[in-house]
Amino acid sequence: MKKILVCDALDSDAFAELEAVQDFEVTLKTGMDENALIDTIPGFHAAVVRSASKITKNVIDASDELEIIVRAGIGLDNVDVAAAKDKGVQVNNTPSATTITVAEHTFGLMLAAVRNHGPANLSMKAHKWEKKKFKGSELFGKTLGIIGSGRIGLAVAERGLAFGMNAVAFDIVDINTDLDVRQVPLDELLEVADIISLHLPVTASTRHMISNAQFDKMKDGIVIVNASRGGVVHEDALLKALESGKVRAAAIDVYEEEPATNFALIDHPNVLATPHIGAAAGEGQKRAGMEVAKILKDKYL
Ligand code: MLT
Repeated sequence: MKKILVCDALDSDAFAELEAVQDFEVTLKTGMDENALIDTIPGFHAAVVRSASKITKNVIDASDELEIIVRAGIGLDNVDVAAAKDKGVQVNNTPSATTITVAEHTFGLMLAAVRNHGPANLSMKAHKWEKKKFKGSELFGKTLGIIGSGRIGLAVAERGLAFGMNAVAFDIVDINTDLDVRQVPLDELLEVADIISLHLPVTASTRHMISNAQFDKMKDGIVIVNASRGGVVHEDALLKALESGKVRAAAIDVYEEEPATNFALIDHPNVLATPHIGAAAGEGQKRAGMEVAKILKDKYL
């Protein structure tokens, strides 16, 4: 019998799939902080997390039977992968399950940002009719700069091309795609893009890669979209660029600190903010959950 601890709510069909396995004893216990996880983890063979639960080194050290940690999602920021490796604990994620989910949210943010959907909605709810105030711009004919051209970056580029945009992309590896996306150095992307969308994990080399010096190189009136990780954009530099008008609009789903606390940025009138819901669509969560179930079944059955 393998004991599986599900630490964050999983898609209900995926949960049922795990519970239906005779050799699995599945426990759902959500909302645990580090101390609660340390108390709970002994005896469990597998831990399943989304993004809320943090599987730190202390949690891994407290485990005695743990063999696998599965993250239902892409980023592994909430799992200490090095500590897991040191203890011989396998770590898996579901890297492609939510590609479309995040790409669609990114594109929704982009459209909303260029057409002022956020402030127009607030104005309507204040019972105003400010028709002249919300003149936006089209995506058609604009240059979309994709920073980070993995699965999600390319899915966003594909959607941009369908809207008649030109796409350029920066990545440290060669971009492998049939799409009409031109790979360019970062500085060139910063200079030519009308809209920049970020699709990077936050690592030592990507943290704050978009800061004052990079904003200085961008076109005046640039639009920034970030549904990847908060730390890749320096939030104070972004706020400064919004205040100077260098950045016309920023649509942000992810923050340096989450839950977000930087309300100077969030409250800026040209910021459209969502609470890290890029992957939060039923279809994507179902794919991620089912992939988690498959990973555990493939390992144990
Ligand atoms: C992911 O890494 O899968 C997404 O950012 C979703 C999330 O963390 O909630």
